[in-house]
Amino acid sequence: MKIFGIIASMNGENSREYQVIKKYVSNEKYKNDDIKIITADSLDIRYCRGCCSCFETGICPLDSIDDMKNIKKDLLEADLIIMSSPVYVHHVSGFMKNLIDRLGYWTHTFHLIGKPVIVCTSTGNSGAEYVISYLKKIMSALGGIVLGEITIDDMTPIEKIEGTFNSINEVVLEFLKEPDCINVSSFQHTLYKSLRMSLIEQSGYEHEYWRENDMFNYFTFKDYLLYRLNLHN
Ligand SMILES: Cc1cc2nc3c(=O)[nH]c(=O)nc-3n(C[C@H](O)[C@H](O)[C@H](O)COP(=O)(O)O)c2cc1C
Repeated sequence: MKIFGIIASMNGENSREYQVIKKYVSNEKYKNDDIKIITADSLDIRYCRGCCSCFETGICPLDSIDDMKNIKKDLLEADLIIMSSPVYVHHVSGFMKNLIDRLGYWTHTFHLIGKPVIVCTSTGNSGAEYVISYLKKIMSALGGIVLGEITIDDMTPIEKIEGTFNSINEVVLEFLKEPDCINVSSFQHTLYKSLRMSLIEQSGYEHEYWRENDMFNYFTFKDYLLYRLNLHN
């Protein structure tokens, strides 16, 4: 299994998120897995220029000059994704927001359909709920199945976070064994339905992506999810 984690902190290996996530993936259960955890300081991700080429063609012109192409590849190949951002002024860090902007068009195509996701944040003392809620929403819009959340703060002892690790591990392993049992969020359900209704009438990249991936044949996100999971199993 491939585990891919992105930590939107410039503190690299000194980042609290990095240290906690490293500890999380060092669990015995993941000992045979291919694990890649990257931090913002090791990446060159340019700002979205707002050209909308990605929505229109599925191609971002910046992918050929920065690290985004490799990030997309790692996300698409991952069996478990960890998305983590420190709280910066009650929201995700600028790096994380920029990364999400560059993935924006995937929220119309559910490119990460069915991938289990863990979201994580690190905070001084406030704003964690906004970051967790935002990361959950975006990862769901990308098609991911958010199975766990980790909040790191000054007050929480590491033993308590380890308790969270154990409960997340159980949910993740259960999902990998029996993905069909998953409950999709009402947000994913509504998003899928409204995109399906508008894209079926249109032409262009997004319509073609939906057509090529048989998405118009499925009326609900859950039906499409099950179809894709069965294809992959
Ligand atoms: C620009 C900036 C803004 C921050 N804003 C907040 C904030 O709004 N609330 C908060 O509790 N902590 C805030 N912090 C503190 C960070 O969330 C905290 O240091 C975090 O644990 C860093 O995570 P890391 O060690 O993984 O980089 C801010 C830090 C920076 C650098």
